[in-house]
Amino acid sequence: MSPVGAWDIAGPQQVRGEILAIRRVGDYHVVSFTAPGIPSRTLPGQFVAVSVGGPTGATILRRCFSIHSVDPQGSAGGTVEVVLQAKGTGTRWLVDRRRGDPLDVVGPLGRPFSLPKEPVNCLVVGGGYGAAPLFMLADRLRERGCRVDLVLGAATESRLFGVLDGRRRASSVTVATDDGSVGIQGTVIDGMVPILAEFDSRVVYACGPMGMLAAVAGLASDKGIPSQCAVEETMACGIGVCMSCVIPVVGDDGVTRMTRSCTEGPVFFGDRVRWADVGTIPADCLGAPTEKKSGPSSPGRGRSGRR
Ligand SMILES: Cc1cc2nc3c(=O)[nH]c(=O)nc-3n(C[C@H](O)[C@H](O)[C@H](O)COP(=O)(O)OP(=O)(O)OC[C@H]3O[C@@H](n4cnc5c(N)ncnc54)[C@H](O)[C@@H]3O)c2cc1C
Ligand code: FES
Repeated sequence: MSPVGAWDIAGPQQVRGEILAIRRVGDYHVVSFTAPGIPSRTLPGQFVAVSVGGPTGATILRRCFSIHSVDPQGSAGGTVEVVLQAKGTGTRWLVDRRRGDPLDVVGPLGRPFSLPKEPVNCLVVGGGYGAAPLFMLADRLRERGCRVDLVLGAATESRLFGVLDGRRRASSVTVATDDGSVGIQGTVIDGMVPILAEFDSRVVYACGPMGMLAAVAGLASDKGIPSQCAVEETMACGIGVCMSCVIPVVGDDGVTRMTRSCTEGPVFFGDRVRWADVGTIPADCLGAPTEKKSGPSSPGRGRSGRR
């Protein structure tokens, strides 16, 4: 098993907050808002689900965002920051808000990263805005006496997030871009390999796109190092009800189950996620649909099956 400890996780709350500021950072927007009670309960890797579109809007589903930073002593019961890539209806609506606009927020949601029980060298890897939740994590790791090496990757310079911030918080920061516009030309994997060799990292933490997480988890497994990956699977409810966010995860008993990334995740041990099967229900997964026998009375099974 991995050398990690458990948190005392507080339940989520639905609160009414207010936009404080929105600032542009490269291709992203950092949105600060008040969220009474949420900051003091937040642990690294958790997320918020934000109602978008306003009371008369047609966007029913909340949008989920990793919590980048919190200030429990901030105004109106504490403040939260998230980092957004404005890409669709909900994120565009959010970045168009103004100071003082109301915001309906549920959080903190999901299971956070676990921390090592002993001070060990940790490698923390972020892709694009996926780096957002890793700075809180880096602070907690350093408070425990861990060395933190950070690898940040993105397609191009404007899609990197937190390089300067990282330099203040980590022992080393390695930057990798696909186009070589800054740092080494390549992926986070190219950045990880020399660090794993030089600093004998004992735990790998990662957040970013699924393809990156699969590669990071694969490298960590090859080196015999436990990894924890925060996934970003499409979520409709964010609170464990709808099953839209399930991914195939292998349990302690060796059995694969379609597992909710909003409640059992978003942080998973990298060697437990069946990365190549994400987006499918593997045939050997518990409750996987079985082939229908011909005949009108054959019982069919839904996407999640019976458990
Ligand atoms: C745990 C978690 C953490 C996330 N953290 C961040 C973050 O820090 N910054 C950030 O910019 N984005 C983050 N996302 C992705 C973000 O939720 C989506 O980009 C956002 O919901 C898109 O909404 P939209 O209305 O702008 O886009 P639309 O494409 O119009 O959204 C339509 C629907 O699809 C869902 N959806 C679309 N893309 C995604 C996606 N990539 N992941 C999950 N759901 C999606 C939305 O929930 C929505 O219901 C996170 C997602 C999850 C699940
Ligand atoms: S998003 Fe609904 S169960 Fe996970």
